[in-house]
Amino acid sequence: MTKLRWGMIGGGEGSQIGPAHRLGAGLDGAFEFTAAALDHRPDAGRAYGQTLGLAADRSYGDWQEMLAGERGRDDRIDLVTVATPNATHFEITKAYLEAGFHVLCEKPMTMTVEEGEEIVKIARTTGQICAVNYGYSGYSLVRHMRAMVARGDLGAIRLVKAEFAHGHHADAADADNPRVRWRYDPAQAGVSAQFADCGIHALHMASFVIGQEVEKLSADTVSCIPSRLLEDDAMVNMRFDGGAVGRLWTSSVALGRQHGLTLQVFGEKGGLRWSQEQPNQLFWMPLGGRLQTIERGEANLSPEADRTSRVTIGHAEGMPLAFANIYLDLAAAIRAHTAGQPVDPAADLYPRAEDGLRSMAAVFAVAASGRDDGRWVDARPPMFRG
Ligand SMILES: NC(=O)c1ccc[n+]([C@@H]2O[C@H](COP(=O)([O-])OP(=O)(O)OC[C@H]3O[C@@H](n4cnc5c(N)ncnc54)[C@H](O)[C@@H]3O)[C@@H](O)[C@H]2O)c1
Repeated sequence: MTKLRWGMIGGGEGSQIGPAHRLGAGLDGAFEFTAAALDHRPDAGRAYGQTLGLAADRSYGDWQEMLAGERGRDDRIDLVTVATPNATHFEITKAYLEAGFHVLCEKPMTMTVEEGEEIVKIARTTGQICAVNYGYSGYSLVRHMRAMVARGDLGAIRLVKAEFAHGHHADAADADNPRVRWRYDPAQAGVSAQFADCGIHALHMASFVIGQEVEKLSADTVSCIPSRLLEDDAMVNMRFDGGAVGRLWTSSVALGRQHGLTLQVFGEKGGLRWSQEQPNQLFWMPLGGRLQTIERGEANLSPEADRTSRVTIGHAEGMPLAFANIYLDLAAAIRAHTAGQPVDPAADLYPRAEDGLRSMAAVFAVAASGRDDGRWVDARPPMFRG
């Protein structure tokens, strides 16, 4: 099978998320790293691209130059990943979709709900694939949780509790550090800091696993470091469209928590608990039974879990492999798209532009509720309301 050609915008030398994408896209041999505009400094981006093995004429100085260069080629890229800072996602994703490229955009997909709706409409009109990198949904046991809920192991879902709480911005003396400060500056970060950065991962995971979307929410947002203009901690109560109650805590001042993404799901027939820092174990408590540990890679898991588990049981699999599973889904989706054939349902689980839009509506709902003493507000994007 010929490889698909993959391009990247952002993710330059020293970036946080660039290496995880390159590991993920390269893992299964489905994609060949072919073109990039890696850095906001054109020369640095061109040079770094070549050290990563790109041909000189496809290691571009900026995304516009890359768009012009790639759109005219017979061997143009099949997929582009957008891993630049948040405020640039909308215009880059829009331009590439409109030019007929499939896109994987980093979260948050846009800065406003209106932009999110526009991306969804463009993706639907052009027929291009537009994915959003909620990469943690690629973990094998997260896929298994979803399959267990979908096949009814837990019965009706009563409660879902999601957390993404870390302590990396807890130092008040560090609040003026330029790498931290912009995140709490409304001019650069938008209406929300911690919920928009981390809370949306927890919310996406909750929705993905229980197969329900948030309808309304009430948020208590706070700046534990008082000089911050945006929240560094939020507690959000939610109601989902399938009847589940949601509780979500996100924080950047939770000292001692390193990453802190966890999910608990409680149904009428059993409960599940999973943590990103211990991704190879899933804890399952069936009603009237005993607490059990489900290990990634063990026999008789769901097809969704088997497909996304790569190394034998007992060996660690981590975040780059979760990203690789998003790329594995995308390779299947792009091949099916080209052939005009349906995608295997077990492979059709990558997060969509619609998920990116729902997150943005939730971000604005959290900000509005937080400003208004926790008033319950509609969390759905206008285009998805009745
Ligand atoms: N999905 C996840 O788990 C996850 C984790 C971390 C970051 N992110 C997201 O990834 C994005 C990037 O975050 P990061 O932490 O890697 O940022 P970063 O600041 O570490 O790196 C950003 C990179 O993009 C480059 N860049 C900036 N503007 C550019 C432009 N116009 N054209 C080309 N390159 C440009 C910079 O030179 C740099 O190499 C953000 O949107 C962030 O929210 C997602």
